[in-house]
Amino acid sequence: MNDLSKVLTTGGDGMLGSYVNFGIKTNRRSLDITDLKEVRSVFQNHKPEIVLHFAAETDVDRCERDPEYAYFINSIGTYNIALVAAELGIKVVYISTNAVFDGLKNGPYSETDKPHPTNFYGHSKLLGEFAIKELLDNYLILRVSWMMGGGPSKDQKFVSKIINQLKKDGTKKINVVNDQFGALTYAKDLVEAIKVLINEDKRGIFHLPNSGSSSRYDVAKEIVNILNLNIDVNPVNSSFFNLDASRNGNDRLDSSLNIMRSWQEALREYLESEWK
Ligand SMILES: NC(=O)c1ccc[n+]([C@@H]2O[C@H](COP(=O)([O-])OP(=O)(O)OC[C@H]3O[C@@H](n4cnc5c(N)ncnc54)[C@H](OP(=O)(O)O)[C@@H]3O)[C@@H](O)[C@H]2O)c1
Repeated sequence: MNDLSKVLTTGGDGMLGSYVNFGIKTNRRSLDITDLKEVRSVFQNHKPEIVLHFAAETDVDRCERDPEYAYFINSIGTYNIALVAAELGIKVVYISTNAVFDGLKNGPYSETDKPHPTNFYGHSKLLGEFAIKELLDNYLILRVSWMMGGGPSKDQKFVSKIINQLKKDGTKKINVVNDQFGALTYAKDLVEAIKVLINEDKRGIFHLPNSGSSSRYDVAKEIVNILNLNIDVNPVNSSFFNLDASRNGNDRLDSSLNIMRSWQEALREYLESEWK
């Protein structure tokens, strides 16, 4: 499919949605995914051929404090999208997460590994996957990890948190965990990859982070290096930070597609183009 004007995006104001510059973009005001009637009327009105379903509650700690809210947005919201898309013959591209796995595997997770989430964000996203798989024939579920993108105005995730600490006046040292392994996903690269995959009419479940893997400590060291700062990065283990939701030690995802550039290259472009 080459005509991107027939693509509708949910969560268009988010980190990932900010890279979509085609089709019909919706946000929570124009399309609240938890409102089934609104989903049906917006889809009937715009008649998209494909929906990029990006809307979600992505604050992992908020999901842990308020599981009902997590399920309402991530599971019921996705159920509404899948149900109406099935009625109207629309393909759905759903972005899922490494958090559907428990992190106990010795090695990266492949697309065929059985999910087993350990926090409410993961549970609620996995139920979203179930709705997509059960109700639709034509879907793409793309699992990614450690997303970065959107620059200072949109990024509230790991890379942005590290940069904000590094940029605080007088910072000489930051503490970063060295017992969590995964890979960054540059949201800009993900949108480009989605365009390729919908053009090829790919279907099914794929993992799609940037290639390679690292600890969070390695990522922080690379940020310091790219920004050319003279600040120490001190390795600590996860118990150092008191977070509401448990984090897995192993967030690594293997991709059978092999189409993403390295996380180091993506990180460099992200910092140089969006954080200067
Ligand atoms: N960020 C990551 O590290 C990561 C990792 C793996 C997978 N993912 C997945 O990637 C997708 C995109 O994430 P992102 O990082 O772009 O998230 P984001 O920046 O938090 O954006 C999510 C967007 O969804 C919107 N939204 C929330 N509830 C909604 C509702 N009821 N109706 C309509 N829109 C609603 C939010 O609007 P408000 O601003 O109004 O709340 C926000 O604009 C999500 O499905 C997420 O689960 C993210």
